[in-house]
Amino acid sequence: MRKIGVFTSGGDAPGMNACIRSVVRTAIFHNTEIMGILRGYQGMIESDFIPLNNHSVSNIIHLGGTILRSARSQEFRTVEGRAAAYANLKAHNIDGIVAIGGDGTFTGARIFQQEYPDISMVGCPGTIDNDLVGTDYTIGYDTAINTAMDAIDKIKDTANAHDRLFFVEVMGRDAGFIALTSGIATGAEAVLVPESKTQLDKLVATLEKGYQQKKTSSIVVVAEGDDAGGAFRIAEAVKERCFNRYEIKVTVLGHIQRGGRPTCMERVRASQMGVAAVKSLLAKESGHMIGIVNQRIAKTPFEEAIKGHQTIDAGMQEMASILSALA
Ligand code: F6P
Repeated sequence: MRKIGVFTSGGDAPGMNACIRSVVRTAIFHNTEIMGILRGYQGMIESDFIPLNNHSVSNIIHLGGTILRSARSQEFRTVEGRAAAYANLKAHNIDGIVAIGGDGTFTGARIFQQEYPDISMVGCPGTIDNDLVGTDYTIGYDTAINTAMDAIDKIKDTANAHDRLFFVEVMGRDAGFIALTSGIATGAEAVLVPESKTQLDKLVATLEKGYQQKKTSSIVVVAEGDDAGGAFRIAEAVKERCFNRYEIKVTVLGHIQRGGRPTCMERVRASQMGVAAVKSLLAKESGHMIGIVNQRIAKTPFEEAIKGHQTIDAGMQEMASILSALA
């Protein structure tokens, strides 16, 4: 391998910097040159490359965001865009890529790989959503759930003081992992996720049961992609069903979940995945995403990783409901 390029793409996620650092330092350890590609595929098309060394990644392991910045490139979806990207990689003698991102990133990687097999590509899963097949953790998820948990804990304090019902919307356009995990961790009365159909009448009955049990407040955690709508729509639907036991409030946590200092495990897992990605390229492998399954590094072909979404654990959903004491 002559030179490795590394980029981050799609929604940024805390821990991406730890992964970049790991990729850079592992490549250099193995006497391989490494370049950063700024703004993901778009930077590849625009030849926005920077040389990286051990010093370039000093003091970034604890930072959220990504020093390589990120983008969702429309141009890379076109044949012409990918041809331009390929020409730029060749001009810089880059013959291996570590792509850090989510399903959009790996969809692009798979197509690029088929069109230009002489450029090896390995992915590291970077998305707060934790929805990729082939890994138990994606980079960003652990930090995001801790951010959501902290915020919901705080909302709970004020909800209790005022006998209020809060609908708290967390991120997850297609996936309910952040909602379910933060909901369990905060003892939410209900958790609504895109993976299962939301029954509003049942939700109202649950909230009423809580009121009858003398709960002084209630928290409903809603994933942004829930089939019944976001937190505002669901709050309206609950009001329309004449549920007026509590004053109703809505909080949308939004992009706060995407930033911040990565947790300890985030940094460690991101580092592990970065090392494995470089080793895989150096072993002349290509076309897969690195993951961690049962505490061990796993490799999943891009096509498998993007085929479907990681499924939510029905047992965890049941547990959330039992532990709210409203089942
Ligand atoms: O994929 C990660 C994610 O944070 C989703 O949970 C969310 O729906 C989306 O990105 C938001 O993307 P953007 O920052 O482009 O609005």
